[in-house]
Amino acid sequence: MEILANFSLKNYNTFGIEAKAKQFVSVHSVEELKTVLQENPTQKKFILGGGSNMLLTQDIDALTIHVDLKGKKIIEQTEDAVWVEAKAGENWHEFVLWTIGQDFGGLENMSLIPGNVGTTPIQNIGAYGTEIKDTFVFCEAMNIETFEIKKFTKEECKFGYRESIFKNEAKGQYIIVSVVFKLTKQKHKINISYGDIAAELTKKDIVTPTLKDVSNAIITIRQSKLPDPKELGNSGSFFKNPIIPKSDFERIHLLHPEMPSYSVSETQVKVPAGWLIEKAGFKGKRFGDAGIHKNQALVLVNYGNATGQEILNVSKDIQKTVKELFDIEIEAEVNVI
Ligand code: EPU
Repeated sequence: MEILANFSLKNYNTFGIEAKAKQFVSVHSVEELKTVLQENPTQKKFILGGGSNMLLTQDIDALTIHVDLKGKKIIEQTEDAVWVEAKAGENWHEFVLWTIGQDFGGLENMSLIPGNVGTTPIQNIGAYGTEIKDTFVFCEAMNIETFEIKKFTKEECKFGYRESIFKNEAKGQYIIVSVVFKLTKQKHKINISYGDIAAELTKKDIVTPTLKDVSNAIITIRQSKLPDPKELGNSGSFFKNPIIPKSDFERIHLLHPEMPSYSVSETQVKVPAGWLIEKAGFKGKRFGDAGIHKNQALVLVNYGNATGQEILNVSKDIQKTVKELFDIEIEAEVNVI
């Protein structure tokens, strides 16, 4: 375990932004993590997982701890269900494929989401009608100050739409080291109701889809809309879909009758930010090396050498224009560092 100085993070963030960490260390076990924390009590710490949900706008003046804990295993099973544990540094998509390979159901709709397992509870990742909270049982996390491992149950995580305790009250206090999910072994709850999944399956003449079929359909859909970070730097959805009071929506909808929406509760409505950004004329636009993806307006991209600040400026410009046009505030989903 070596602490490296002035370390480039370009290959450690999916936006591909050049920024330097003052100090950098990769940890491969809970023991190594504890040692690093114990031996460096006074340094500021910056915790790095898969780097898929952050925008680096400056160098990191801290000890950057890259959580690279590996391992996945079955910890318990019954006839119908299985409990699987993955260490924080496991690549999310590889883990999802590993579960599908054993015909374990529950994660298939979240195929191809970039990032690592350990960061999935932080923002309760989700896609195509499923969220992590639907299969999450508990995670274990190390307290940065006391080095104790604490178990967080689903209730304790306080999951919401792209929200959890780790983005709020517990922010900066814990490092997630492993996550346990409860998956189905039979009677899988196949969910193909969202968007284009059913159409994609019909195209392939699939009537009774398996977990693998659903996963493959989602991979096809994602690949057609979302840029591959290996080819074009990005961080998935840059903004959250805004949730606004129904009364506000009704007022705004009168002025923009074509605005789509999804009911969230009796009193709240979710509006697709991608639609607002597209209507504001940003889709496919490029400002230097920073831009808005041509197939999905919610995704900001780095064409090569954009700085984090340049991407942040584009995001602010989008927020301002959307607010002016629709009187709706859109909030970043990505962590701006
Ligand atoms: N839309 C547009 N133009 C666009 C993009 C979207 O008009 O450029 C409108 C359309 O009305 C479309 C609707 O937005 O029907 C929804 O679009 P889509 O199904 O592509 O989903 P999204 O709301 O844009 C969310 C998640 C994605 C997830 C997809 C699929 C958030 C912030 N994003 O996007 O998650 O993959 O649903 O479930 O909730 C991520 O978080 O990084 C991410 C990619």
